Amino acid sequence: MSFLDDRLDALREQGLYRQLQAPDGVDLSSNDYLGLSRHPAVVQALTKALEAGVPAGSGGSRLLSGQHPLFDELERAFAAQVGAEASLFFSTGYAANVGLLSALPDEGDLVISDRLNHASLIDGLRLGRADKLIVPHNDVGAVESALVRAMGRRVFVVVESVYSMDGDMAPLEQLADLCMVHGAHLIVDEAHGGGIFGATGGGLVQELGLREKVFATIHPAGKALGMAGCFVAGSQALRELLINRARSFIFSTAPPPFLAAGLLKVLELLADPALDRTRPLKLADRLRGLVGGRLDLGASQTHIVPVMIGGAEEAVRVQQELQHRGWHARAIRPPTVPDGQCRLRLVMRSELSELQVEMLAMELVEVCGG
Ligand SMILES: Cc1ncc(COP(=O)(O)O)c(C=O)c1O
Repeated sequence: MSFLDDRLDALREQGLYRQLQAPDGVDLSSNDYLGLSRHPAVVQALTKALEAGVPAGSGGSRLLSGQHPLFDELERAFAAQVGAEASLFFSTGYAANVGLLSALPDEGDLVISDRLNHASLIDGLRLGRADKLIVPHNDVGAVESALVRAMGRRVFVVVESVYSMDGDMAPLEQLADLCMVHGAHLIVDEAHGGGIFGATGGGLVQELGLREKVFATIHPAGKALGMAGCFVAGSQALRELLINRARSFIFSTAPPPFLAAGLLKVLELLADPALDRTRPLKLADRLRGLVGGRLDLGASQTHIVPVMIGGAEEAVRVQQELQHRGWHARAIRPPTVPDGQCRLRLVMRSELSELQVEMLAMELVEVCGG
């Protein structure tokens, strides 16, 4: 198997070799931003559902034997919660993005995609037959000139609300207005804005009141929602088209129905003012305030705080040094980020204490030499 060994050696030489590792120490990398994955009310809802006979597996795709009334209930509840006409639940965010972007834009259409869009959006576009234009990150001018040039064509503009590796936000209001003016369709991946932003955790689109101007939103449930799966929210016609055309929905076993019982509870918690959904943002503000002058935190504005490092080897050294000190933070390397832009992706989660954030700030500066 020498070709496998050769490839693995090449990865090691480039500092890009990865191994699976369970979090050990204070977790600074989990996307379970609000700690809902272990919330007692969610655990209880899951247990009750299983005890009541809701199956642990779906037994087939939704179009065959995998359909369950709890999915319909969940999809209606989610659509109502984010103010959309309808939603459809996929097994993962990756599957949702691949399904949506390969099924929706057709031959002759144009998709304008932000350069920092997640791999699942990119892979969906690769599978589809539309023309693609990658625009510089958050460059409203570049989107506008592309829209002007594309006059007469059907155009989709695809962005994330909060960028997963940078923690900055898309200029959603400007993009939504541009799309309205040019008759384009705005698609927003709320993977990292969902749960945190919006009156009921619907994300940045909800926070900014843009639902009517947005064609579709994507809400992976494995991040702030603490579970798994993904909602695509939009019109009833979009839902029906995806049921009929999204191959990752059609040709894949439906998620376990008990998941829907847990997510219904998660939706209730998100809508309950008793849950402080802004704590991760406040902790991130604190961290930026403590180390901002001394370390390069990129364009971070949210609960995701990258520490920009540069080379892959140095990023891994920092990760290991922090690990020795009891912090579990992950070095992010190509292909997840561009060459030379390796970073530590720090995530501020509700469960962290202010004291932990202060200690982290001190040790970061020591380890990174700021
Ligand atoms: C922006 C974005 N979209 C989609 C996904 C995929 O979601 P999932 O992990 O549920 O497959 C991720 C996951 O990292 C993401 O960051």
